[in-house]
Amino acid sequence: MIAQRKDDHVRLAVEQQQRHSGRNQFDEVSFVHHALAGIDREDVSLATAFAGITWRVPLYINAMTGGSEKTGIINRDLAVAARETGVALASGSMSAYFKDPDCADTFSVLRRENPDGFVIANVNANASVDMALRAVDLLRADALQIHLNTVQETVMPEGDRSFASWVAQIERIAAGVGVPVIVKEVGFGLSRETVLLLDGLGVRVADLGGRGGTDFARIENGRRDLADYAYLTGWGQSTAACLLDAWDAPMPVLASGGVRNPLDVARALALGASGVGASGTFLRTLLDDGVTALVERISTWLDQLAALLTLLGARTPADLARCDLLIHGGLRAFCADRGIDPGPFARRSTSFDAPYETTGSTR
Ligand code: FNR
Repeated sequence: MIAQRKDDHVRLAVEQQQRHSGRNQFDEVSFVHHALAGIDREDVSLATAFAGITWRVPLYINAMTGGSEKTGIINRDLAVAARETGVALASGSMSAYFKDPDCADTFSVLRRENPDGFVIANVNANASVDMALRAVDLLRADALQIHLNTVQETVMPEGDRSFASWVAQIERIAAGVGVPVIVKEVGFGLSRETVLLLDGLGVRVADLGGRGGTDFARIENGRRDLADYAYLTGWGQSTAACLLDAWDAPMPVLASGGVRNPLDVARALALGASGVGASGTFLRTLLDDGVTALVERISTWLDQLAALLTLLGARTPADLARCDLLIHGGLRAFCADRGIDPGPFARRSTSFDAPYETTGSTR
């Protein structure tokens, strides 16, 4: 049953990538162009540090799969891609392993093929502390993701209908698991209120996991006989909106959901993310074109991300948070309703040391 679901998710997610129109709310974020802001490429480092974690690059392959024969092969290839490019890698939900330990190998391959990489285990918010420890142990994981997916569970024919215990369970896992805990949404977004709540539960990092890419309401609706939850397609806040909402949150945030290209990575970093994840788009490359193509694609993203930092005058990903950003359209309306002033984002470079040398007037 679980193995079939895992295969369905992969098939439906890739179909969705093929049909995806391409536009999302990252298009409503643009950088103010400063023609003399550029620096030298050799002065750019892509390293990022947050919550005691250091990554060589601020990109990761976010949680997807494991638990069936086919998805074990996908995990092997994702691990190879992570090893070859140096990006961090998250496992898909490890519930299948708790129900059937015979599928352990479909998850542990993530570590076997990627012995020195940053590997993240993944459990649901119903998991016990013991399960969380087993998940971390199986992957010798550097961190643990707990995924929040109430919308997905609601639409999933065999999904959970009880969510009230999650808050207490997250607190127990965060206190007992011994590695940093990252709580992530699966594509509907973490609101500012949720991030603040998580901060009080001992969670170290929030992966905002917003709308704009893989839509699990649509995927699960495709698994229902009557497809009668079509009206939930598009539920939630976009990743760009979540970043603005959580701009001054007390904990580091990661951004995922609808990240399509290196510019989206730069936009998310400029909106305050410490790292940026992608799932569906990398899965599609892997399944359509193979692991070598995925390695090439991730390498190209990293190369172009460094190029964007160079032209923007950012020596590190964190420096992007000093670049001037314009917020347009629906995203600007979201800011107004949530009490966020987009104005200061457009004038940030003058309130820090400018990324370029100036003599007096900055304009
Ligand atoms: C996912 N995602 C996911 N997330 C999670 O925490 N546990 C999981 O088991 C899965 N499973 C899964 C399967 C497949 C096939 C896909 C494509 C995705 C969600 C994923 O981590 C991410 O949050 C969303 O896919 C949104 O990011 P993208 O796809 O828009 O980059």
